[in-house]
Amino acid sequence: TSYTQDELKALVGQAALQYVVPGEIVGVGTGSTVNKFIDALATMRDQIPGAVSSSEASTVRLKALGIPVLDANEVSSLSVYIDGADEIDGQGHMVKGGGAALTREKIVAALSKRFVCIADESKKVAVLGKFPLPVEVIPMAAQQIIRQFAALGGQGSIRQKDGQPLVTDNGQYIVDVLGLQITDPLAFESQVNQWPGVVTVGVFAHQKAAVCLLGTPRGVETLTY
Ligand code: A5P
Repeated sequence: TSYTQDELKALVGQAALQYVVPGEIVGVGTGSTVNKFIDALATMRDQIPGAVSSSEASTVRLKALGIPVLDANEVSSLSVYIDGADEIDGQGHMVKGGGAALTREKIVAALSKRFVCIADESKKVAVLGKFPLPVEVIPMAAQQIIRQFAALGGQGSIRQKDGQPLVTDNGQYIVDVLGLQITDPLAFESQVNQWPGVVTVGVFAHQKAAVCLLGTPRGVETLTY
């Protein structure tokens, strides 16, 4: 069989339903793959109390399908968080934030016992860094942070939308960094987290995936880390 990329996303979105625990709140990520998962989740609507969402966009989609959205502060722990990724390496470390939702994604991931990543095969990499690394920053620190990335060999720029800096759900900017080779994701995440003005770095190593449902021409492959 040959699947389109859209069909692969639908396939892994559907497959993720098996990780949803009936009777429990589910953590929901952001992006085109997660949108397929949200559509599939509507079929389990009556079996779950609701969802904790990682973005305004996912909240709108969940509510439109009749799935209640709970505030993260109402929840002390989630059994599972289901989200996509921009890149995933062989250990389950990810780059995320292509949809600018990385901060809330990391917050919900940190609340969750298990991160289930849903992705098509194009997201699988040996070393993180080919996809421009998203970093959410406080606007006044943007140029200072770009210079710090330059010292590491990365070229950073402020993400634009309609000719203006894109403003996140949290009122901050995104710096996208090209040219990095992130060979030690845990250490890299810790290092960048120390820089003043960094809100969230899009490396998910401390909150890595436990499972990846990977859409391939051969169907869904389940990778565990
Ligand atoms: C959102 O901020 C990102 O982390 C997404 O998880 C990522 O961009 C994946 O999106 P797609 O499923 O649309 O590729």
